[in-house]
Formats: sequence, C-alpha cells, structure tokens
Amino acid sequence: MMRRNNIVVFRFLFPLVSSFILIMLMLSSAYASDAKKGAALAQGLCAACHASDGNSVIPSNPILAGQHYSYLKNQLNYFQVKEGESKAKRENAVMLGIASGLSSDDIDNLSAYYSQQKIKPSYASNIELAKAGEVVYKAGDDNRGIPSCSSCHGPRGLGVPGQFPRISGQHATYTASTLKSYKNGSRANNNQMMEISSRLTEGQINALAEYLAGLE
Ligand code: HEC
Ligand code: HEC
Repeated sequence: MMRRNNIVVFRFLFPLVSSFILIMLMLSSAYASDAKKGAALAQGLCAACHASDGNSVIPSNPILAGQHYSYLKNQLNYFQVKEGESKAKRENAVMLGIASGLSSDDIDNLSAYYSQQKIKPSYASNIELAKAGEVVYKAGDDNRGIPSCSSCHGPRGLGVPGQFPRISGQHATYTASTLKSYKNGSRANNNQMMEISSRLTEGQINALAEYLAGLE
C-alpha cells in the first residue's frame, strides 16, 4: 500500500517538479543574458563617461551603478525624441545623441546591467553645507511649500524600485545640475520634481546635493 502511494505521488510530482525547474532555468538564463548583452554594449558606448561598471568618476556624469532598473529604462526613453514630438522630455545634447541610437531591447539590457552593479558612493566634502542640506532633506521647508525629500526617497535616499529613484551617494555636481534642470524646465519629464525644484533656492539645491553625495 505504502509503495503504491509512493509511485502515484512520484508519477504526478515528477513532471510538475521537472517542468518547474525547466521554467526557472529558462527565466534565469534570459535574465542573465540580458545583463550580459547590456554589459557588452556598455563597454562600447557608455564606459568612457559612466565607467565600465557605472561608477562614473567624472562629477558631472551621474553614477548609474545600483540605480533601479525601471528608473534607468524610463530616463533612456525620456532622452529620445518620440514620434510626433519636437523635442525630448529630458533635454540633454550628449544623451540625446546616444539614446537615439538605442533600440528598446538595448535599453532593457543596459538598464538590467547597470541596476545589477554595486555602487561606489561619492562623498560630501563640505560638511557645513551638507548639514544645511540634511535639514531640508528630512523636514522640507514649510515657508516655501517644500515637502521632505525623505517622504518619497526614504531616509537613506535609496528610493523605491518602480516609484522613486535612488539619490544617495550621487555626485553633488550632477545632483545640483539635474535639480536646476527640473527647475528651468529642460528636464520636463516629471511634474512632482519640477514643482518641488521650482520652489528650492539655488542655495538649498547646492546644500541638498552636498548632503546626498555623502548619504548612504
Ligand atoms: C559623452 C559622455 C556620455 C556618454 C558616452 C554616455 N553618457 Fe549617459 N549621461 C551623460 C551625462 C553628462 C548625463 C547627465 C545628463 C543630464 O544632466 O540630464 C548622463 C545621464 C545618463 C542617465 C540618467 C541618469 C540619472 O540618474 O537620471 C542615464 C540612464 C545614462 N546617462 C545612461 C547612459 C548609457 C546607457 C550610455 C551608453 C549607451 C550613456 N549614458 C553614455 C554622459 C554620457
Ligand atoms: C512626492 C514624491 C517626491 C518628493 C517629495 C521628492 N521627490 Fe525627488 N523624485 C521623485 C520622482 C518620482 C523622481 C523620478 C522623476 C523622473 O523620472 O525624472 C524623482 C527624482 C529625483 C532626482 C533625480 C535623480 C537622478 O538620478 O537624476 C533627484 C536628484 C531628486 N528627486 C531629489 C529630490 C529632493 C532633493 C527632494 C526634496 C527637496 C525630492 N527629490 C523630493 C519623487 C519625489
């Protein structure tokens, strides 16, 4: 009796388990090969500016390592001029030229690759300035109608995949410049950040950027 039951269980379970394993193998190899293709593209097209693992050492070029997949994918699309539109939502001469040549598969693969790299965070060099930034980051500024940044980006600036990008450990030069782009409208791909940046003073922008560079 015992033996028969075992055989029945085996007959039903074996195909189930083996097809499950097969599906897992197919999924994992698809995922791995995407990032692999992305790595090859990145070496040829992006490494000169963002470094081969996405840890750019040039302060005006953002660090891409460890950024969320969906955020990277969105930005590469925003840099492109879409059909029926006269300009890109996120205007940048350098990235326009580069992103225009990428297919949607390339964008997927590159985003998978960079999101899987480990960030080597930047650092704050002006501690007084960083401290002033910390106050706005955590509490916002009621007088100017600025919400706390941590309410969306989190206390450590790690963001939420699919919703809010990681912003900690980024070069201060890049962060300040992109907040100014939201403010002046050349980065017009997100209403929340355009609204918030329009209320920040230049001094607050520089302080926040300095704080974020050293936040981990
Ligand atoms: C010649 C230098 C250069 C090259 C090459 C380059 N980038 Fe960039 N990249 C930049 C600069 C500068 C910015 C900042 C643009 C801005 O301020 O809006 C940027 C921004 C980005 C961003 C936005 C990051 C963020 O945090 O919002 C992504 C994503 C990106 N690049 C991906 C790539 C990929 C992928 C490649 C290769 C296919 C590439 N870049 C090649 C200079 C470069
Ligand atoms: C209501 C939610 C919300 C709040 C509050 C908020 N952000 Fe953002 N932030 C976002 C979203 C969403 C994005 C992604 C927008 C996009 O795709 O460009 C973003 C993007 C950014 C970026 C661009 C990152 C990059 O790599 O280019 C920076 C920098 C940033 N936020 C800083 C701040 C700062 C500083 C504050 C506080 C003064 C703040 N944010 C408050 C939602 C928020």
